[in-house]
Amino acid sequence: MKSYTFAKRPIVVLGPMDSESAWLIDQLDHHTEQTFGAYTFHEGTIDNCPVVICRCYIGVVNSAVAAALAIQYYDPLCVIIQGTSGAHDPALHQGDIVLGENVVHLGRFFTPHCDKGDGSDPFTWDPQGSEIVAVDPDEFTAVLHSDMRIIDAAAAVPYPDGRVIRGTIGAADIWNKELDMIDHLHKTLGSDCEEMEGFGVLQACAQLGVPCADIRVISNSEWHKEEEFNEKYGESCQMFVLEVIRRLIAEKTLL
Ligand code: 5AD
Repeated sequence: MKSYTFAKRPIVVLGPMDSESAWLIDQLDHHTEQTFGAYTFHEGTIDNCPVVICRCYIGVVNSAVAAALAIQYYDPLCVIIQGTSGAHDPALHQGDIVLGENVVHLGRFFTPHCDKGDGSDPFTWDPQGSEIVAVDPDEFTAVLHSDMRIIDAAAAVPYPDGRVIRGTIGAADIWNKELDMIDHLHKTLGSDCEEMEGFGVLQACAQLGVPCADIRVISNSEWHKEEEFNEKYGESCQMFVLEVIRRLIAEKTLL
C-alpha cells in the first residue's frame, strides 16, 4: 500500500458507529476521503492541523484493522479510539467520561475442565493476557495503557456534562447486561466500564509502535434502570474529543 504524506503527521480518530464518528467528521475543514475496502478515512484539518477520522465499525477486530490501516497509510502522531460504553462502576452515570489509563480484555479466559453435564460457571474462568511482543516479548500482557500525554491533555479539558475520571476500560465482543457478571468483572479485572473496541486498537497500536488513547462516555448503566443505552452520548464524546485534539494541537503535545 502506498502511503500518504500530509505536510505534518495527522492525529487519527476512530469511532465505531455513525453516531460516534459523523459529528466529528462534520467538524473537518478541507474534507477529502480515502477508502480501503470497507473503511473510509475522512481527511481534513482542525485548527490547521491534519486530522483523519474513520468509522471503524463495531468490535475488537474491525477496529484493530482500521487502526493498522491508518497507521500504515498515514504514519499518524497518535490514534484515539473513542465512543460509548456501559458502566461497570455503579458510581458512574450517563454522560460521565472515562479516560482509559488502563485498558483490559474482557473476553480472554482459560476455563477449568468440566465433565459433560457439569454445566458452565464463568465466575471460575481464569483471565488471560494477550501476546503483545512489542510490550513484552516473554510474558503475555493483561493491561495496556493509553499514552499519558493524551490522557493528561484530556484531563485538563473542561467538561460541564458529567465527571471525567482516569480509570480502566474493559473491551470484548460482548455486551454484558447481567449485574452479577458486571460486578464480577469490575471487582476482578478492575473495569470501570465496557465497550467493544479499545483493547484491539491499543493492541494494534502497541504492536506497531504508535501512541494511542481510549476515551469513552458512559451511555448506559445496568445499575440504574433509567439509564438505558442512548446514542446521543456518542456526540458528547466526540465534542469532548474535539477539545482534546485542539489541546494536543495548541500545546504541540505529541511533537
Ligand atoms: N457493552 C458493550 N459495548 C457497548 N457500547 C456501548 N455500551 C456498551 C456496553 N454496555 C459500544 C461498543 C460498540 C457499540 C455496540 O456500543 O463499543 O461499539
